[in-house]
Amino acid sequence: MFRRLMLSAALAAGVSHGAFAEEQVEVLHWWTSGGEAAALDVLKKDLEGQGVAWADMPVAGGGGEAAMTALRARVTAGNAPTAVQMLGFDILDWAKEGKLADLNAVAEKEGWNSVVPAALQAFGKHDGKWISAPVNVHSTNWVWISKSALDATGGKAPETWEDLVAVLDKMKENGITPLAHGGQAWQDATIFDAVVLSLGTDFYQKAMINLDEAALGGDQMKEAFARMEKLRSYVDDNFSGRDWNLASAMVIEGKAGMQMMGDWAKGEFLKAGQKPGDDFVCIRFPGTQGSVTFNSDQFAMFAVGEERQEAQAAMAASIMDPKFQSAFNVVKGSVPARTDVPNEAFDDCGKKGMADLASANDSGTLFGSMAHGHAAPAAVKNALYDVVTRHFNGEISTDEAPAELAASIAAVK
Ligand code: GAL
Repeated sequence: MFRRLMLSAALAAGVSHGAFAEEQVEVLHWWTSGGEAAALDVLKKDLEGQGVAWADMPVAGGGGEAAMTALRARVTAGNAPTAVQMLGFDILDWAKEGKLADLNAVAEKEGWNSVVPAALQAFGKHDGKWISAPVNVHSTNWVWISKSALDATGGKAPETWEDLVAVLDKMKENGITPLAHGGQAWQDATIFDAVVLSLGTDFYQKAMINLDEAALGGDQMKEAFARMEKLRSYVDDNFSGRDWNLASAMVIEGKAGMQMMGDWAKGEFLKAGQKPGDDFVCIRFPGTQGSVTFNSDQFAMFAVGEERQEAQAAMAASIMDPKFQSAFNVVKGSVPARTDVPNEAFDDCGKKGMADLASANDSGTLFGSMAHGHAAPAAVKNALYDVVTRHFNGEISTDEAPAELAASIAAVK
């Protein structure tokens, strides 16, 4: 509708269709929750301020699986969107298929090589060419705790696994759901990222990055599944299929004690008018302090006709603008994808996120998130989703799960 109106206005003003088309981007994304939509709006407004119209193609579903299925259908039909929200290995897969645009002209002009951390360049570039523009860095090893629910347990944030269990037990005694969770494979896997990391950075590296069969199938992995089984005992009966933002709402409303989720959850707390320190507390998953499992949303640009390339370059340049990176990430809950953005506008959780990212990067404890496509390609991620979810739902036992995980991953890697 918007596009039609703009088009008739452009035609009435004597502007040709071609000239109008240069000024539009069609964007496929999965940012449909309250906090996500508020952040997306910062980008839409920024582009509209430059005269670039926005054609929205939202495909709901946290983690982006449904969006990736919709994308495949569009590309197969020969009708790729201009820009697509995408994660890690998915970007490289599309690049290998030769479907992505070459953004080197804008990247060189704007100096991306010197400000984007190497860990993100590994996914934003292929064969020496920039193919996508990173808009943020999220991380998955966070816990979001209701301040009043924590105060009711004595007020001390948990630092170790044992502390965590004690706080969860106390919340149960206090009559609330200790752990707000949505039973969807990607959400189970998001907790699994943190649980594996809590058993050591070497273990995360071996199991999730190197896909080492002994680590995937061994005793430490059994301990990871035992922890998952324990966490499962703190969720409510209605957790199955619940969307992640509804789980956040349970904590926001004080119906649940905490949520283990990436920092996009902070966007929901902020959208609800809550403040870190006053209404909620953000901590790293106990036992993972000093380490970060990251995922970075990038806008992969598809190879499109010349008439759409100018708008595409304008979008890429906007995304990488330092002021935009600050404004957007303050709302989204993530941190900037450039190393030169000041932290002043960020709240305490955001400042912590920026500091943690920098120090993890320096100390070699920054790892790609398996749950969000930055540790291994989609086939491996999906194999892991399947085992972790079946175990979480009690279909396979903690004793059986490691061997099942090792075998499933060996079959697809
Ligand atoms: C992640 C994505 C985030 C986020 C989340 C829930 O995969 O990187 O930006 O919003 O899914 O939809």
